[in-house]
Amino acid sequence: MTSTKVQMYMQCFLALVIIVIIIIWALLPLKIELKKKNTSASISKLDPGNGEVSSSSPLNSTRVGRKWSVLLVYTGFFGEQEWFGINEDCKSPQLNGSCSKDLFNVTYDKGRFLESDYVLFHGRDMPSTSHMRMIWKKKPSSQFWIYHIMESPKATPDTRPLDGMFDITMTYRVDSDIRRSYGWYEEIPLKDQKNVLQEDFSVGKTKLVSWMVSNCNAQLRKLFVHELQKYIAVDVFGMCSREFGQPKSCPKESCKDIIKKYKFYLSFENVLCKDYITEKYWLHLGDENIVPVVMGGADYSKLAIPGSYINVLDFNTVKDLADYLHYLDQNITAYNEYFKWRKRYRMGGEWSVLCQFCEKGSSLTGLQLKHNQDLTDFWVRQGKCDEKDQLVRKMWTA
Ligand SMILES: *[C@@H]1O[C@H](CO)[C@@H](O)[C@H](O)[C@H]1NC(C)=O
Ligand SMILES: *[C@@H]1O[C@H](CO)[C@@H](O)[C@H](O)[C@H]1NC(C)=O
Ligand SMILES: *[C@@H]1O[C@H](CO)[C@@H](O)[C@H](O)[C@H]1NC(C)=O
Ligand SMILES: *[C@@H]1O[C@H](CO)[C@@H](O)[C@H](O)[C@H]1NC(C)=O
Ligand SMILES: *[C@@H]1O[C@H](CO)[C@@H](O)[C@H](O)[C@H]1NC(C)=O
Repeated sequence: MTSTKVQMYMQCFLALVIIVIIIIWALLPLKIELKKKNTSASISKLDPGNGEVSSSSPLNSTRVGRKWSVLLVYTGFFGEQEWFGINEDCKSPQLNGSCSKDLFNVTYDKGRFLESDYVLFHGRDMPSTSHMRMIWKKKPSSQFWIYHIMESPKATPDTRPLDGMFDITMTYRVDSDIRRSYGWYEEIPLKDQKNVLQEDFSVGKTKLVSWMVSNCNAQLRKLFVHELQKYIAVDVFGMCSREFGQPKSCPKESCKDIIKKYKFYLSFENVLCKDYITEKYWLHLGDENIVPVVMGGADYSKLAIPGSYINVLDFNTVKDLADYLHYLDQNITAYNEYFKWRKRYRMGGEWSVLCQFCEKGSSLTGLQLKHNQDLTDFWVRQGKCDEKDQLVRKMWTA
């Protein structure tokens, strides 16, 4: 490169820098003006004007001069800086093709806070309240803050200090602005459907009920299993197995082979919250060929694969449930009916974080929190974690 050329480049660059600085200078006071907010002690009910946006979809970036949205990942994810799957491309039936990551400029650089269209936080990795208040004061009015969590409200740090700050929820809840579920399924096109019913899924299964449990704190499901054991053998694996007098472990590498010998698997959630169905259900629909017996706060008839599970809440008593499992143990035809769904449906793969944004696409207009910025009301009160406990308890106390 000749020196004149270099000089020319330098001059161009300098000019550009100066222009950028001038623009920032011109815009900065405006932004600060916009952000001068009511900092009274209660920040729970903020002026919704804070979130005014154009009526067009936030995902259809309205930014002048660029076609992508900047997504700032502000927190880690369980301590990991890089969020799993955030840079992956994705495919899903809802997306019809791939969700181009060109739509999003994902960054971890907090220096890009002011230019970010979306700022993503993980509920379990939140900065301190004072830090949150500090950056909230700088939040541009067109910026969206996303609150993401996959744990239940019972395992979520106190959200009250965050009330009034967030615009978008991304959780497993169906009524989240962006739903991120633990699993999904789709209908297999008719021409690809095979007749799986010829297979006998009970072959090689010598045992009845298995349960893998590591969290020993959840009382309700433990009481349930103690009760269930009065009527049917339940083999308990994992950290909690000691409490059942049968210390067994299920090492990751061979766990599948161990489970394969069982006909049933207890997919009991640790809390019974609205829509909360975790991998305890989704992960065991594969080639272990096992029927999940589910207990949870979700409406399984809406969220789980039709015909793929046995719901404890469909029975009046624990004994009724045990009787039914014994019946299925005896009737191979009836047992195999729990695998009929595989003819019609198949499980989806993992969904990356970005796919959730893309899937929502242009329909992200009726933002829950945008209008009612009370995160605690949405997450904790509407999360309904205590409604079904009584129903389950009644199965042996009534
Ligand atoms: C701050 O908020 C309170 C209650 O929402 C309101 O009464 C008060 O006028 C606000 N102050 C300013 C400066 O906006
Ligand atoms: C999916 O996209 C293809 C081409 O982009 C189009 O022909 C097809 O109709 C789309 N399908 C649905 C269900 O939208
Ligand atoms: C992200 O932004 C940088 C500069 O701001 C740009 O160079 C890059 O091409 C962008 N990436 C995408 C995928 O839009
Ligand atoms: C076994 O299950 C099948 C299918 O549900 C049912 O039609 C049949 O009557 C059952 N047999 C007995 C002996 O209960
Ligand atoms: C996105 O923006 C473009 C350009 O402004 C517009 O033509 C298009 O209709 C918008 N799409 C949606 C889904 O709003």
